[in-house]
Amino acid sequence: MATAALRPLPELGAESLAAWRAGGGRLVDLLAEARELGPVAGFRLGERRIVLVTGAEEVQQVLAKDPDTYVKHGHRAKALLGDGLLCASGEPWRRQRKLLQPQFTGRGIRTYEPQIRAAVAGAAARWRAAAQTGEVREIDADLRYFSLEVIWRSLTAHPLDPATHERLISAGDSLARIPAFAPATGEAAVDFAEANERADLAAAHAIALAGQAEEPALLQVLLRAAAELPDYTERLVRDELMTLVVAGYETTATTLGWLFLLLDAHPEQRAWALAAGPAGSAERAAAIRALIDETLRLYPVAWLMPRHAAEAGVLAGHPVEAGTTLLVCPYLTHRDPELWPDPEEFRPQRFTDAGRRPVQGAYYPFGLGPRACLGAQFAVREMALLLEELLPAHRVEIRDAPAGTGYAITVHPDGPVRAVLHAENP
Ligand code: HEM
Repeated sequence: MATAALRPLPELGAESLAAWRAGGGRLVDLLAEARELGPVAGFRLGERRIVLVTGAEEVQQVLAKDPDTYVKHGHRAKALLGDGLLCASGEPWRRQRKLLQPQFTGRGIRTYEPQIRAAVAGAAARWRAAAQTGEVREIDADLRYFSLEVIWRSLTAHPLDPATHERLISAGDSLARIPAFAPATGEAAVDFAEANERADLAAAHAIALAGQAEEPALLQVLLRAAAELPDYTERLVRDELMTLVVAGYETTATTLGWLFLLLDAHPEQRAWALAAGPAGSAERAAAIRALIDETLRLYPVAWLMPRHAAEAGVLAGHPVEAGTTLLVCPYLTHRDPELWPDPEEFRPQRFTDAGRRPVQGAYYPFGLGPRACLGAQFAVREMALLLEELLPAHRVEIRDAPAGTGYAITVHPDGPVRAVLHAENP
C-alpha cells in the first residue's frame, strides 16, 4: 500500500465534541457537522475511533466492494433476534441468506402476493369505515398493523390475531428504544427478557400455524430446512422468524407514515400521482413508486449502518485504522446538494424524469452489497399495493403533526401520526 500518499483523516476538534455534549448530544447534529469535512470524516469518543461515511464512492466501497474489510459486527438487535440473518455473519450468514433469497425475488414474492393483497383489503376496509365516522385516527398504528399482518400472513398463511399482534408490537417496541449508536458503552442497555418471552410465544404460534397451512407459507421453507439440515436448529428457526418480522414491519410502516406526512404537506404530489394514469396503469404505478422512492430518499428509515474495520483500509485517500467503527449514513448522503439538487424538497419527479437516475452510491435506502436488505422488493411491493388502494380512496388530513424527527435505530416521526380520513371517489 502506498502509505506515503495517504492524507490524515479529517477529524472534528475537541470544541465540536464539547459543544455537542453540552447541547444534549443529538448524534445527527454531530454527524452533519462531520459531513461538512468531506465524504469521510472522523471523531473520537473516548477510546473509540468513529468514521462517518457519506460520499457516494466511499459508501459503495464500504458496503459493496470491501465487505470483508468493513464487516457487520455485534448487531444492536442481537439480544432479540439472536442468530437470525440480520445479526449473523460469516459462513452461517451465507447459508441462511442463500436459503431465503429465492423467496424474496420478484418470482418468490408472487407466491405470497395473495397474502399481501388480503392484508391490503383489511386495511382498506378499516379506513373506509373510519372515513364514515370522521374520527381522528392514529394512522401510524394502522400502518404498523398492516405491515405486521403482511409479514405474518406471508410467514404462516393465516391472518394476524389480536394476541399475536399485541405480543409482536411490544417485542418490536423494545428495539425501537435502542439508540442509533451508543457512543459510551457500545451496546444499548435495554432489557429484552420480556420481549424475548413474547417473541417465543409468537414464534411457537407461527410454527403451529405454518405446519397446518393449506397455502404456501414462508415459514415452511425454514421448517423444511430444520428437518433436513443439522445447522437449522429450532432456535435458529425462531431467530430467523423474528428477524423477518422485526426487519419487515417497523421499517415499512414508518416509511408509509412519512409518506402520508409528506403528502399532507404536498397535496399536489398526490394529485400528480393519481393524474399520471388510471387505476391499474403502468403510469400510475410508476408515479406511486416515485412517491415511495422520494420518501425513502428523505427518510431512509435505516438511517445509520454501522460497520467495523476488521483490518486497516483506505477511504478517499485517508487511512482507516483496524478497529475503527464506521457509520454509513444514507440520511446525509441523500441530502447532499451535490448529489441531489434542492435536497430538502419533496419532489418525486426526480425518479420519473428521463435521464435523471442517481449516480451509484448516491441512493441506498435498502443498503448496498451483500448485506443489502433481503426484503427490499417485498417492501416496495407491499407499499405499492397498499397505496394503489388507499391513495385514490382517501384524502388524509394530518392533525397535530409530530413536531420533529426521532433518530433512534430508525429515523421516525417524533410522535403519533394522527389524521382524519376523507373518502373520495366512492
Ligand atoms: C421500507 C422498508 C425497509 C427498509 C428501508 C429496509 C432497510 C434495510 C437496510 C438498510 C438493511 C441493511 C442494513 C445494513 O447493511 O447494515 C436491511 C437489511 C435487512 N432487511 Fe430490510 N428494510 C425494509 C424492509 C424489509 C422487509 C419487508 C424485510 C423482510 C420481509 C426485510 C428484511 C431484511 C433482512 C433479513 C435484512 C438483513 C439482510 C442481511 O444481513 O443479509 N427488510 N434492510
